[in-house]
Amino acid sequence: ASSLPIYTQDEVTKHRSVEEGVWVTYKGSVYDITEFVSMHPGGDKILLAAGGALEPFWALYAVHSQDHVLEILSEYKVGEL
Ligand code: HEM
Repeated sequence: ASSLPIYTQDEVTKHRSVEEGVWVTYKGSVYDITEFVSMHPGGDKILLAAGGALEPFWALYAVHSQDHVLEILSEYKVGEL
């Protein structure tokens, strides 16, 4: 069982800038990706997903359908929805 906290969508939505923190959700988990934003190979586009779900964007940018991308994401997990 995970010991990470449960967050509401409202709490996630409050985190959509580098100043306030950039949080995203993916498959029911919550990620604080603030530190990754400046390292993203796709640049500032990553901020389009800030405060919300990655799924619609990753459906459009299939470059993310790779194990190494999910490994990066997993490093930033902070909780569950
Ligand atoms: C490329 C990670 C969110 C757009 C990449 C790559 C990684 C990555 C590792 C390079 C993949 C490769 O070439 O093997 C992530 C992570 C995200 C995220 C961890 C969220 C936490 C997004 C979002 C968008 C996006 C939300 C668009 C709205 C792109 C684009 C590229 C890319 C366009 C291709 C860049 C290029 O090769 O020129 N991303 N990404 N990414 N990402 Fe993301």
